[in-house]
Amino acid sequence: RIAYVNGRYVKHSDASVHIEDRGYQFADGVYEVCEVRHDYIVDLTRHLNRLDRSLSELRIAWPMGRAALTQVIRETLRRNHVRNGLFYMQVTRGVARRDHVFPAEGTPPSLVITAKSTDARIIAAKNANGIKAITLVDNRWDRVDIKSVGLLPNAMARQQAKEAGAQEAIYVDGDGMVKEGAATNVWIVDPDGTLVTPPAEHGILRGITRTTLMDVGAKLGLSIAERNFSVSEMLAAREVFLTAATSICFPVVSVDGQPIANGHPGSVSQKVREAFFDVAE
Ligand code: PDD
Repeated sequence: RIAYVNGRYVKHSDASVHIEDRGYQFADGVYEVCEVRHDYIVDLTRHLNRLDRSLSELRIAWPMGRAALTQVIRETLRRNHVRNGLFYMQVTRGVARRDHVFPAEGTPPSLVITAKSTDARIIAAKNANGIKAITLVDNRWDRVDIKSVGLLPNAMARQQAKEAGAQEAIYVDGDGMVKEGAATNVWIVDPDGTLVTPPAEHGILRGITRTTLMDVGAKLGLSIAERNFSVSEMLAAREVFLTAATSICFPVVSVDGQPIANGHPGSVSQKVREAFFDVAE
């Protein structure tokens, strides 16, 4: 495997950044994970737009122009022979002697890109029987709309889910309203058959897969709503499912040990997933 690190393509096993990279010391950086299907980067423009937003919210400079970045992404995919898979890109505020205050103007941001082959269809098939989730109180900062690499709470949450025999942790606010998963957005199919997901203005990441699913659902003629819902509404839903670039529309069959509907994946999430795969094919 080959990684792109600050202007060079290096062996993945040798790839490294400086010990005083601000990403390492302060989680002072942002990232994107994108899916590649048949050599097509799914939703590249939306991912670059969100990267732009994350960078500008944190006042980190672009490491290079958009066209150059796209070129480097494609070259990293090519060198790794990735035609179906994922790539990860991370931009940090760069290397500087440790100081909480931002480094001097002109300090170059660090850019790292890695890529790996996966098959979204195989992953989806593996999870076709549905996954288990737990709920837990959201203990993250209030700027989770920025896709920052500060993922310690998310990592703790996923680990907690794993230790409970589940695959995802769903964050809930102090009022018992559902926010999002540790690395996914959450959806329900309500008793009217409407696909519902929490609004992205506050307290969640505006997932790209979430946005694309809205397009896909609209094309299928499904009714879609952005509104808050409680844990009890989720437990009583017809279906619950999760979306992320790494996991297109995973059905959730139990939450906190309680089955959703009859404990089997529902038809709506399956239909949406199939339609989603058609987008890039
Ligand atoms: N996670 N919410 C959170 C907290 C996330 O970390 C992610 C993605 C999403 C879904 O966003 P998108 O549809 O754009 O992938 C929602 C990535 C995949 C990760 O951390 O691996």
